[in-house]
Amino acid sequence: MKAAILPTIGAPDLLLLGEVPDLPVGPTDIAVSVAAAAVNPVDLKTRSGFLKLDLQFPAVLGWDVAGVVTAVGEQVRRFAPGDRVIGMIAQPAHRYGTYAERVVADQELFAPAPSTVPLTEAAAIPLAALTARQTLGTLSLAPDARVLVTGGAGAVGRIAVQLLRHRGHSVGAVARAGDADDLCDLGVVWTGAVDRVEERGWDAVVDTAGLASSIAAVRDDGAFVSIDDNEQPRPQRGITPHKSYVDENGSALAELVAMIDAGQLRVPVARSYALADVARAHTDVAGGGIRGKVLVIP
Ligand SMILES: NC(=O)c1ccc[n+]([C@@H]2O[C@H](COP(=O)([O-])OP(=O)(O)OC[C@H]3O[C@@H](n4cnc5c(N)ncnc54)[C@H](OP(=O)(O)O)[C@@H]3O)[C@@H](O)[C@H]2O)c1
Repeated sequence: MKAAILPTIGAPDLLLLGEVPDLPVGPTDIAVSVAAAAVNPVDLKTRSGFLKLDLQFPAVLGWDVAGVVTAVGEQVRRFAPGDRVIGMIAQPAHRYGTYAERVVADQELFAPAPSTVPLTEAAAIPLAALTARQTLGTLSLAPDARVLVTGGAGAVGRIAVQLLRHRGHSVGAVARAGDADDLCDLGVVWTGAVDRVEERGWDAVVDTAGLASSIAAVRDDGAFVSIDDNEQPRPQRGITPHKSYVDENGSALAELVAMIDAGQLRVPVARSYALADVARAHTDVAGGGIRGKVLVIP
């Protein structure tokens, strides 16, 4: 099958279209013809070697996928050929990621695709939405808790903001000045730069932007969770910072899809690139400032 192949750790232009063998479909696996994959920060950190991973080369990057089921293993009951699905695979734990024509992985990693979003755009959902949901799941928030999200206009942050608002929380966001209107439309009550977080009024901070200093905004005995790879702030004032890492989970993904189809959650797409142009997609994402997910289309 065609795939964007990474021959070794290095710069974006190492990513070139090539051929890798098709994987066998195991008893609980489904094979998916890829409509789109999404580019995530973890792909850039894997490619550049920032994350020290035991990769097998040639590697195929990519965690997010949307596509159509083409074959199922003999024990698969949840899906059938022709089904439209989305899924997230933790790429380093699999032989090949999703920057490819086909993906083969366990049925439990997938959910039916939303019916209200074009299939290609649905590739934007899995990793960012699962991360936001699972990160919030690590917090014990009182119903009236006030929560500050750093990187509130980013992929994970924007979903965390929407999930928190859906649960009725008062939400603030550390974000660039240009994102204030968009976040205001999502019901955010305060936006600003991290050094403008003057008051320790927030019950919890969800740090998606790697801004350890945002712990200053948490009240005494409040909560601080980060998904970023930067160093954590030190424990202080009864706050014990912790990290959250996304897990593969098709059932949780199905619940997020239901929210999307109910109009309760939106995951915007910024740009799409042909799979052959994935090096350019990586360069552009590394430049920052893109709002919405970037897709690659095989
Ligand atoms: N632990 C996990 O399981 C997990 C899962 C998913 C993602 N992550 C990590 O979480 C981070 C966020 O991922 P993402 O996909 O949401 O990335 P993203 O879409 O790039 O979002 C990051 C957001 O933070 C903003 N930001 C960065 N520095 C800022 C600052 N000083 N002030 C205000 N805003 C700032 C960025 O704005 P600009 O674009 O303008 O810089 C961007 O809007 C990445 O490091 C990623 O690797 C971890």
